[in-house]
Amino acid sequence: MGLRLMGDETAVWEAAARVLDANWTGTATVPAPGLYPHQWSWDSAFVSLGLARHRPERACIELLSLFRGQWATGLVPHIVFSSGVSGNAFFPGPEFWRSGAQPDAPRGVETSGLAQPPLQALAALRLAQGTGEHQAFLTRLYPRLAAQHAYLERERDVAGFGLVSLCHPWESGLENSPAWDRPLQAVDPPRSPFSGTQSPDGAVADRHVSLVRSMRDAGYRAEYLRDDHPFVVEDPLFNAVLLASTHALAEVAELAGADPGPHREAAQRIHGAMLDRLWDGGCFRARDVRTDELIPAATVAGFVPLLDPELPAAIVRSLAELLLSARFAGATGYPVPTCDVQSAVFDRGAYWRGPTWVNTNWLVWLGALTHHLDAVADLLLGSTLRLVRQSGFRECFDPFDGTGRGSHDFSWSAALVLDLLGSRRCR
Ligand code: GLC
Repeated sequence: MGLRLMGDETAVWEAAARVLDANWTGTATVPAPGLYPHQWSWDSAFVSLGLARHRPERACIELLSLFRGQWATGLVPHIVFSSGVSGNAFFPGPEFWRSGAQPDAPRGVETSGLAQPPLQALAALRLAQGTGEHQAFLTRLYPRLAAQHAYLERERDVAGFGLVSLCHPWESGLENSPAWDRPLQAVDPPRSPFSGTQSPDGAVADRHVSLVRSMRDAGYRAEYLRDDHPFVVEDPLFNAVLLASTHALAEVAELAGADPGPHREAAQRIHGAMLDRLWDGGCFRARDVRTDELIPAATVAGFVPLLDPELPAAIVRSLAELLLSARFAGATGYPVPTCDVQSAVFDRGAYWRGPTWVNTNWLVWLGALTHHLDAVADLLLGSTLRLVRQSGFRECFDPFDGTGRGSHDFSWSAALVLDLLGSRRCR
């Protein structure tokens, strides 16, 4: 079936395709020109979903190039540094992470030492399903995806209950989310070159840098994370993406001629642990492993478990009600705000503390489709298209009036709009 675009959607499609073309480096896509000059792990997965609609051969190259940075442990680092870019172009750069000094890091490419939500298996499966020519690509990628998941299961289930723990807010992809405020209080910040000021933002930045330094100085070892690291948090978004990707990995295994059984078992463990540890009766919340308490902030991350195909119907209903209520979509013209608008920590202008983002809208859209919440899915698709029509492919948007914020020509905003438009032909 061909792609049916309505009204000005063709113009939106073409503008999105131009952004991806402009941000292509030859082997990967930078998240945004200037500000983010390297390859980020979850950005790459989002981008590959858009490239799959526009230039499928580049989508395969994008995903494969990310895995150049994979460590022998299986870690897919959240940044793979581009060799042609000056060390000062982004802080903290390769000289801070010092991946070259780690025996498990790859040679010839420098990386960070943190993870990001592991969306790659899901992206690879969607890409293969879309193009139909998947055998060679999936056979090549499967062992790498399996190693990525094995690393998370083996080394990052810090609490031992079946969920991955974030050891740094940067691992969440939503680094300034109010959900991290409380666990960050436990981090002792020596002053760093990152902040340069005594402002509250500077203090947070100092804590971010201090956490990296501690992990790096401990060789990014699992024993250090388990026994001594101060920031250990189980996050619903990260674990829901892991669960969706684990289901996808089972299908990738089958298509690549491998055994899907272990991945199906892993998915069951994550499903059970998310319900046991992160569902509070009305919402999914992050758990601070060090205090063993659920973190009060209700954020958009709490809706991402809709990606779990086995989520009980009563929980699906509660999440849909909360999403449509005056705490989230019901109060804003351009949902979904990052944070509960009625909470004291909501801030419509602050990065990940209020604005609407295309990637979180896409994740919740896919979750809504998983549970046949068609009205919710249509609301998210419509809201996202209105945002980019009005303000362009910005990094994020004011949830009340749709004004763009942050970078222009942001790759995942363009890529996921292509996927949303392209999905019309599959429905
Ligand atoms: C910001 C975002 C993060 C993203 C990165 C590159 O740090 O918070 O999620 O991966 O930029 O776009």
